[in-house]
Amino acid sequence: MTQLTQQATWQALAQHSKTLPHMRELFSNDPKRFDNMSAKACGLLLDYSKNRASNETLSLLFKLAKESQLESKIKAMFAGDIINNTEQRAVLHTALRAPAEQVINLDGNNIVAEVQQTLAKMGEFVNSVTSGDWLGYTGKTITDVVSIGIGGSFLGPKIVSQALRPYWTGKLNCHFVANVDGTSITEKLKKLDPQTTLFVMSSKSFGTQETLTNTLTAKEWFLKQGAAQADVAKHFVAVSSNVEKATEFGIDANNIFPMWDWVGGRYSLWSAIGLPIALLIGMNNFRELLAGAHAMDEHFANTPLENNMPVIMGLFSLWYGNFFNAQSHVVLTYDHYLRGLPAYFQQLDMESNGKGVTLNGTDVDYSTGPIIWGGEGTNGQHAYHQLLHQGTALVPADFIMPLNSHNPVGEHHVQLASNCFGQTQALMQGRTYDEALAELSHSKLDDEQKQLIAKHKVMPGNKPSNTILMDKLTPTTLGSLIALYEHRTFVQGAIWQINSFDQWGVELGKLLGNDVLDRLTADKQADELDSSSNSLINLFRQGKI
Ligand code: F6P
Repeated sequence: MTQLTQQATWQALAQHSKTLPHMRELFSNDPKRFDNMSAKACGLLLDYSKNRASNETLSLLFKLAKESQLESKIKAMFAGDIINNTEQRAVLHTALRAPAEQVINLDGNNIVAEVQQTLAKMGEFVNSVTSGDWLGYTGKTITDVVSIGIGGSFLGPKIVSQALRPYWTGKLNCHFVANVDGTSITEKLKKLDPQTTLFVMSSKSFGTQETLTNTLTAKEWFLKQGAAQADVAKHFVAVSSNVEKATEFGIDANNIFPMWDWVGGRYSLWSAIGLPIALLIGMNNFRELLAGAHAMDEHFANTPLENNMPVIMGLFSLWYGNFFNAQSHVVLTYDHYLRGLPAYFQQLDMESNGKGVTLNGTDVDYSTGPIIWGGEGTNGQHAYHQLLHQGTALVPADFIMPLNSHNPVGEHHVQLASNCFGQTQALMQGRTYDEALAELSHSKLDDEQKQLIAKHKVMPGNKPSNTILMDKLTPTTLGSLIALYEHRTFVQGAIWQINSFDQWGVELGKLLGNDVLDRLTADKQADELDSSSNSLINLFRQGKI
């Protein structure tokens, strides 16, 4: 057994998980359960009352967090300690949203000053493009931005831009290309004019196959349309921590926006990786986004664990994964602008906490990161919610909804809210056999049929959910919301004693992909791998099955 599972508190939680009453009972025993189990911070309200938890549950979970030295681990992250031990890196995405006057020293440099310089450079660039001063090679103003990147260099810019659509200044359109599938870039380029298109190539490493290939294709397209090599500087900019490689690739040194190895890809939207966002919503709104995230950083760093929103959410996720065998967690956004958020949180959490060994290399004997999935409400209610209500898998859910819509048309928003709240209620309380039978009392069915149908209509309930509300979706509330999930991910990783900041499994994919690429393009048939891989490679070389 690992140290964690041997701990008395861990074992007490395992024991306690078997004794909890149904949530219906917990609610009827405590009419103030919502007041006692909700928290407000940074423009967000978290209702965690619909969880399988009593006061004893909470105190055991907080005890576990304290015994896991969560508080000192939080301090270590903010202080820039090398907590990413396998890559020997600090983890300081929080510095990207720190106020200009703060000082965070890393290797003798105040990194906040470097961050502020980059923000200033971004601001100048954004103003120059959106004001129409930045001209394309034929003297026309820029109308379209193509953001090329993948993973964190794609999802953050894309999903935040989509979420903040009401804040677009209207000066530019933006298109996102990530996949190496040529169809993606070909379809985008079809609609674009090279004279008015700006490419933002985002790659922290400047070594990612997909991004390099897509950028080369974009450059070839640009040159084929009549532009000259010297015109590239007016249409291609890059964001990278590898300035040397970006320059070698042909990006003008003035057009390179730096980032740093202490920012993980999935935590990078706050850096110059967020340039496409800033181009769309303007620099002031981008700074509001950073301010919202910073407010959540302050809350996370300074609030006692018992009232700390990321801690509470992280502990509940761990509670279900480790003590109720929940294998997945669903994120349900009741706001069309937030429809991409589940995919963003999926990368954030699964790339961070999909790990099987502890920091010191011991195999874990407990579940770590769950599968994160989800979508926008109410669409999911007509699909996978069936499994949430009556399936055999326990799937804890987060419901996220702004109280006021950016598009308050007719009855739409009140209906949306009724569905959101109705779902959390139904998941919690379920429907008993007697209730189902009573509902059928006026039907013409005979008793036997009524009993059969009633059996099928039973919903066990006791299905946990959090509800997160905000007054309105703004750059600030969005910043706080995303930072809330970043820190929730951290909390779980800290208790599981894993490194949430490397991604060796993903790196393996990059290596294997390159090896297969060599075999696909070699001048001989593949015969050195397993029979399946050899055959697949050879079929591709043949071009027919
Ligand atoms: O492949 C994993 C990953 O490293 C992500 O974490 C990262 O966001 C993405 O690839 C893109 O990497 P880069 O920004 O270096 O191109």
